Amino acid sequence: MILMKHIIREGHKTLETVARDVELPLSKADRKTLTDLMDYVRNSQDDEMVETYGLRPGVGLAAPQINVSKRMFAVHAHDLDGTLYSHMLVNPILKAKSQNIIYLPGGEGCLSVDRETEGITPRYESVVFEALSYDRESDQLIPVELHLSGYIGIVFQHEFDHLNGILFTMKLFPALPNAKPAFVYEEESNDSI
Ligand code: NI
Repeated sequence: MILMKHIIREGHKTLETVARDVELPLSKADRKTLTDLMDYVRNSQDDEMVETYGLRPGVGLAAPQINVSKRMFAVHAHDLDGTLYSHMLVNPILKAKSQNIIYLPGGEGCLSVDRETEGITPRYESVVFEALSYDRESDQLIPVELHLSGYIGIVFQHEFDHLNGILFTMKLFPALPNAKPAFVYEEESNDSI
């Protein structure tokens, strides 16, 4: 079970390293990493688990964040319309991206970044990721093409960046004149990506 103590923080070299492709067929160890990542994210959204294990809430976690430098991450997040996106992705490829740039109002957060940050991070308004999605029930990898835009697209782009050794703190700007906010900011969210 992944706990906060297993999550490496800003400054650790693995977070600045381009992760390598996951070898197929998926090894037992890689399966466990994927399900551990997903279990952390889901547990971190459960008040009782948060309290018991001192978890910091998040909507995604990438393998490099637990010092496994391989191209896989888990996202369990609801888009603003309530649609759940729950994926354990292996070897994702950014297939297409919009010209338009958006940002998360109030800035992003990350389980590997403990400090308060100022600024916003540019993201594509819409993206298409091609990847293998691990299905826990059937124990199979299923090819998927995910068309994402707005908030949920930002979540996947943030996780994808982790696979390329990029933290959101490396691209913080005080303002982005040509970018639009992903949504109108109503309430502060503490969830980290
Ligand atoms: Ni992060």
